[in-house]
Amino acid sequence: MTTLTLFLAIAVVRSWNVHQLDVKSAFLHGDITKEVYMKFPKRYAPPLHIPNTVYGLKKSLYGLKQASRQWFSNHTDSLTTQGYVSSQVDHSLFYKTVDTNYTCVLMYVDDLVLGGNDLTKINHLKQLFYSSFSIKDMGPLKFFFGIEIATNSSGIHLSQYTLEILEKVEFLLSKPVTTPMDYKIHLTSQHSDPYPAPNFYKRLLENSYTSPLPDQTLALPLNK
Ligand SMILES: *[C@@H]1O[C@H](CO)[C@@H](O)[C@H](O)[C@H]1NC(C)=O
Ligand SMILES: *[C@@H]1O[C@H](CO)[C@@H](O)[C@H](O)[C@H]1NC(C)=O
Ligand SMILES: *[C@@H]1O[C@H](CO)[C@@H](O)[C@H](O)[C@H]1NC(C)=O
Repeated sequence: MTTLTLFLAIAVVRSWNVHQLDVKSAFLHGDITKEVYMKFPKRYAPPLHIPNTVYGLKKSLYGLKQASRQWFSNHTDSLTTQGYVSSQVDHSLFYKTVDTNYTCVLMYVDDLVLGGNDLTKINHLKQLFYSSFSIKDMGPLKFFFGIEIATNSSGIHLSQYTLEILEKVEFLLSKPVTTPMDYKIHLTSQHSDPYPAPNFYKRLLENSYTSPLPDQTLALPLNK
């Protein structure tokens, strides 16, 4: 995530275009290079039931250990063919420099973030991905990993749609107080009595992501 934060910081300073692509079922796109067999899922009857049969996979499947590697290498291959270099520091970052033009691709699971000062190259990259994957162009980067990203002339504003969460748990009218979180706290399940009204707490947890940005960690109230 440090890469994304740094990437956005540079994008602001250099006034880059930052676009986002969403890859539909990214993990289903890789072709399988090794023989992988599976049992037929219990809930579905195989077309022709022969006891003790396993099935050979022709395509990658969601949840398959090889799946994310397949997707990653397929993607890497397409990019390196186009002259992109994978960063030594973060392998999810690919970049290409031509004269003063800089284009880079950040890949997080099935989200792709494209950035740079050459819009033609960015559109070219989109075409490249369109041709091999089922892709949705999300346009300028607005939402990433549960973080809302708003760009204006003064910079990029990251927020964790906290207001939405507060509205969902009917906490919007509460008075805000500064509650610094004790980040060294050590919690155990035997530590104290179980929380008497866990539903509210569960709803809060469901709605708040474990933030990839450590400085946005939420301290959740327990005393409702
Ligand atoms: C990536 O996957 C797509 C769809 O399965 C396939 O058409 C394409 O040839 C693959 N590309 C590479 C470089 O493996
Ligand atoms: C650099 O980017 C600009 C803006 O898209 C483009 O007009 C120019 O041709 C690019 N230069 C090179 C060398 O690709
Ligand atoms: C940019 O957005 C931030 C956060 O929403 C806001 O505080 C600031 O006034 C905006 N600046 C401009 C120039 O619109």
